Amino acid sequence: MNFVRAAYPLTRMRRNRASSRIRNLVAESHLAPADLIWPLFITDGSSVDIPSLPGVRRLSLDDALLAAAHAEKLGIAGVALFPATDPKLKDAEGTEAWNHDNLVCRALRAIRAQSPDLLVMCDVALDPYTDHGQDGVFRPAQHHQTILDQFGSEALAQSIAPGGVANDASIDALVKQAMTLVESGCRVLAPSDMMDGRVGVLRRALDGAGYTDCLIISYAAKYASNFYAPFRDAVGSAGALRGDKKTYQMDPRNSNEALHEVALDLNEGADIVMVKPAMPYLDIIAKVSEQFAVPVIGYQVSGEYAMLKQAGDPLLMESLQCIKRAGASGILTYFAPSAAQHLVG
Ligand code: PBG
Repeated sequence: MNFVRAAYPLTRMRRNRASSRIRNLVAESHLAPADLIWPLFITDGSSVDIPSLPGVRRLSLDDALLAAAHAEKLGIAGVALFPATDPKLKDAEGTEAWNHDNLVCRALRAIRAQSPDLLVMCDVALDPYTDHGQDGVFRPAQHHQTILDQFGSEALAQSIAPGGVANDASIDALVKQAMTLVESGCRVLAPSDMMDGRVGVLRRALDGAGYTDCLIISYAAKYASNFYAPFRDAVGSAGALRGDKKTYQMDPRNSNEALHEVALDLNEGADIVMVKPAMPYLDIIAKVSEQFAVPVIGYQVSGEYAMLKQAGDPLLMESLQCIKRAGASGILTYFAPSAAQHLVG
């Protein structure tokens, strides 16, 4: 950058900071309620506190409707729905994900009927529905059968070729889940599963069925992060999760890889890309917004929120300003209603 200002004492930087009016006039980024998406945890039971997320509750359907109305009144862009699924409904394949009467679909229909202008974003990932807590489905490794044929022992085949979350089989399931959501009224899909190629398959499936207006906000650079721990408590997948998600979520040490992920998702038809978590990954938000010049959303995840909440509201507000300054056009945050109140109040 070329610094063209005269040196001190002709230039005094403090002149532009002397009053709130001049500070507002020169502010380089602006946070507004319209930039925020509020993630809501929903349950079939009555509303309960979530101990690891102070101030956040799992909401009954009635309370979720009240929350949506509140969000609309505050000028918040939208809500994102996350179901705490009854463990009895979970299985290895996550089949509850394509039940048109599942918790998310019922909440979606009710909220869309009540607040048609509000964006209602739904995750595309199987973790709320699988008994193993992974975002996709398990398949044996390709050489599993070879070992089985040769030695006749399933246990041996399992230990030598255990397999894992299978990319393409998971995409088939995720598309079924996504179509169930759009058929229930969803117009903002957020694939959060990190399978390779899922955005392209999803875009074609949507277009093929006439849902050309359905938006895809892809979790393009989603890291395998310990900052998700309270979320997994909130949706009840923490105890269920077998292993970790490092074979599909990104390695926190990488940033070039995030740019490739974003490029691929954009190429496959993503409308908006997301970086997650947000504050420990501001460098990624900045690079993505500078290099691709497309809308980027930062997800201030559960662990970030829980830590910052301990420190108080001014600190949370500052963290949101910083995510915005780094280049995010929007932010998912559990603090959305309070932030909106601070911003308009
Ligand atoms: C599920 C999903 C996760 C979050 C959003 N969608 C958790 C995970 O990947 O294990 C985390 C959100 C948060 O921590 O606030 N695919």
